[in-house]
Amino acid sequence: MEHLKKQVRIVPMAYEHLDEVAALERVCFADPWSRNMLAEELDNAMSAYLVALDTEDGSVVGYAGLLVVADEGYITNVAVRPESRRGGVAGALLDVFVSFAEGNRLAFLTLEVRASNYGAIALYGSRGFRGVGRRANYYEHPKEDAIIMTREFGDGTDDGDEAADGGAADGNL
Ligand SMILES: CC(C)(COP(=O)(O)OP(=O)(O)OC[C@H]1O[C@@H](n2cnc3c(N)ncnc32)[C@H](O)[C@@H]1OP(=O)(O)O)[C@@H](O)C(=O)NCCC(=O)NCCS
Repeated sequence: MEHLKKQVRIVPMAYEHLDEVAALERVCFADPWSRNMLAEELDNAMSAYLVALDTEDGSVVGYAGLLVVADEGYITNVAVRPESRRGGVAGALLDVFVSFAEGNRLAFLTLEVRASNYGAIALYGSRGFRGVGRRANYYEHPKEDAIIMTREFGDGTDDGDEAADGGAADGNL
């Protein structure tokens, strides 16, 4: 496992983190999730939300969300504070979800990402996700296609090491 350049502690998201996570959403996204939307996920038995806390001051550096339906895992959110990016935080959050998927025998993890979000596409590619499709005009503000990226589990051969090509779909990126 890669060396963590940014020292964080990953814990389940709790009510005490909601203000900071909502603020992080506003910094990171044009259509941010509200505090209420995030709070609903805490009450959703099928959701697993994680926060990465700065080990020095306990502040929220990043967070990620997973929705599990039967043996399918849908990654709903991944975000890291701008000043803490490229420190391995998002990768560490994703690694927890990958371990969860392996440990709970999920068939796959999947997510959508803006077609122009090369950094996130590279992140998911580094964790073995591959582009499997595209949803036209999925996003607003600005309107943009989503790339669907998926990592399948189950046959014991997909360890993510072959994903250095970034997993982009159809050569369009
Ligand atoms: C995308 C995002 C979550 C990445 O978080 P991060 O903590 O910086 O990612 P990591 O440091 O764990 O990166 C792990 C690997 O992903 C790839 N990667 C991450 N960001 C990248 C970027 N901007 N450009 C190229 N590769 C990138 C690299 O391979 C990186 O490994 P390296 O730093 O050793 O080269 C962060 O940039 C972010 O919050 N962006 C705004 C919100 C967003 O777009 N979320 C995704 C929605 S689908």
